[in-house]
Amino acid sequence: MTILVTGATGRVGRCLIKRLHAAKQPILLATRSGSFDEPHKAVKFDWFDGKTYEAPFDVVSAIDKVFLIQPAVSDPLVYLKPFVELAITKGVKRFVYVSSSALEAGDMVHGKVHEYLARRGVDYYVLRPTTFTENFGVAFRPTINMFDSVFSASGGGKSAFVSVEDVAQAAFTALVAEKSPNLRDPIVVGPQLYSMDEAAEILSNVLGRKITHEDLSPEEYTQRLKNIGMEAKYAEMLAFIQSKYANGSEEAAAKLPGIFVGTHSLVDYFQANKDLWIK
Ligand SMILES: NC(=O)c1ccc[n+]([C@@H]2O[C@H](COP(=O)([O-])OP(=O)(O)OC[C@H]3O[C@@H](n4cnc5c(N)ncnc54)[C@H](OP(=O)(O)O)[C@@H]3O)[C@@H](O)[C@H]2O)c1
Repeated sequence: MTILVTGATGRVGRCLIKRLHAAKQPILLATRSGSFDEPHKAVKFDWFDGKTYEAPFDVVSAIDKVFLIQPAVSDPLVYLKPFVELAITKGVKRFVYVSSSALEAGDMVHGKVHEYLARRGVDYYVLRPTTFTENFGVAFRPTINMFDSVFSASGGGKSAFVSVEDVAQAAFTALVAEKSPNLRDPIVVGPQLYSMDEAAEILSNVLGRKITHEDLSPEEYTQRLKNIGMEAKYAEMLAFIQSKYANGSEEAAAKLPGIFVGTHSLVDYFQANKDLWIK
């Protein structure tokens, strides 16, 4: 049986593929280009083009599990539902989706997918990671390098920044587990909680220059993301997540049973990737 991996060229996807390959799990990669590095087999797949949804099942008939990553759209269910419904008819038995620690089933965007999978009566996992550590090297990098500043709407609220390696490990565990656990929507966190002020201070110490944290209101934060081209509803979801952090959701989540705690620390990431923030 084969595991289909969407988002294969992305951060979590690449880390997941490494693990599945090492464990000798048969995999097929769904990519927009239809190709991937050797020795992996890939198929052309685009969430925005329903005509590509059949392609993975034409290439490999025995797909039984699917890892689901979607682009940043406010209505992921519009694309995901037809694909999942097709996949079920093709014999897929388990779906693993990536949502957010701050979203419950039924909440906006990923929460709608979570609700659908839970109601659909399939074997599913919705992994709910907190803020990715690697955001400092991607989404947060431009303002760090241009203005020595990182912005959020999380106030003094903490987040246990999680590495994409740890998210991939949680996904790997969910995909290869023989039996499904009772908890199907585990929160996935890193080893330690930090406020954004604390994270900026750690980065300052590593870089030897002052990085400040600009704390915005949810409205200002949404507007800032819209200004850089993000879809309004997606920006509102990110602001909603930030306001939950501001209200202590991550500190509360850290005490819940069944959370997945990763091992990769924020400090190690900063130290290993210092060059990303050289001006
Ligand atoms: N960043 C965070 O702090 C955070 C926290 C919690 C949850 N998440 C969730 O994590 C997920 C992102 O994971 P990631 O960081 O691994 O992703 P990523 O690095 O941003 O990569 C996105 C992947 O999606 C693919 N993709 C984009 N548009 C596509 C399309 N139209 N059809 C098919 N594939 C498409 C990309 O392929 P191409 O190479 O072709 O572009 C790429 O493989 C999101 O659902 C996000 O909500 C993120």
